[in-house]
Amino acid sequence: MRKIAVISQKGGVGKTTTSMNLAHALALSGKKVLLVDMDPQANLSTSLGIHGSEVKGVAAVLLENEPIASHIAPLKENLDLIPAGGKLGELEFLSDGGSSRGFLLEQAIKGLSESYDFLIIDCPPSAGLLGMNAMLAVNELLIPVSSDYLSMQGLSRLLGIVQHIEEKLNRSSKKWIVITRYHRRRRLANEVRNKLLNYFPGRVLDTPIRESVALAESPSYGVSIFDYKKLSFGAQDYLSLARDIVLKGQAV
Ligand SMILES: Nc1ncnc2c1ncn2[C@@H]1O[C@H](COP(=O)(O)OP(=O)(O)OP(=O)(O)O)[C@@H](O)[C@H]1O
Ligand SMILES: [Mg+2]
Repeated sequence: MRKIAVISQKGGVGKTTTSMNLAHALALSGKKVLLVDMDPQANLSTSLGIHGSEVKGVAAVLLENEPIASHIAPLKENLDLIPAGGKLGELEFLSDGGSSRGFLLEQAIKGLSESYDFLIIDCPPSAGLLGMNAMLAVNELLIPVSSDYLSMQGLSRLLGIVQHIEEKLNRSSKKWIVITRYHRRRRLANEVRNKLLNYFPGRVLDTPIRESVALAESPSYGVSIFDYKKLSFGAQDYLSLARDIVLKGQAV
């Protein structure tokens, strides 16, 4: 099982949009995928029609030690979801457990690797204990960078934090960058893309995700882009991104 956290402490860069639609694209291509919503905002769960307060979700697994299998909700063929759960935010305030608090998710997903080809975790826009649990449960980080100047700054900050944690714990993960909210005709967007390609050769996935109204609209219908407008740019881009990810995996 490949384990990927979609991570950035910067808000609104497309983590949830990418988690949701990449997972659907992989599932459509025949991969078995488990999505995990690690954000107390529960945007991913809500975007897929599951409302936070109605389920115990991953919160019960991490805070109450409940078995993970009982919180897996089947979504579609090849695709399951563990929703956030109403109490997930409490994890940030967990005072027991010392350094093992960072490894709760890693512990919980042990035993799932037989059942899935991909685990995809949607992270909150913060560098707290929830993001830490996601980071330590995976070996690949997918970092969405939106096509503007400030998101480049956010990226260097994130990479600094990740490097610090990884050095301390003596571990390392593959890091992939996906360009989101891309406008082909906007000069700034191309400058950002060229800079990323220069600074991080081999790490920037080939497909930039274009800005598309349909991608912004689909969550309000509780479905992915493939169930909303399967012929849109957004659907094409996420299918192409899924191919990039599969190819990178063969090179890992
Ligand atoms: N390619 C795109 N085209 C148009 N709108 C997009 C695109 N990607 C994301 N959006 C919209 O931008 C907003 C932020 O996206 P999203 O929720 O995926 O970001 P996020 O990084 O998960 O945010 P947060 O940090 O709050 O969790 C949403 O309204 C989403 O619909
Ligand atoms: Mg989000």
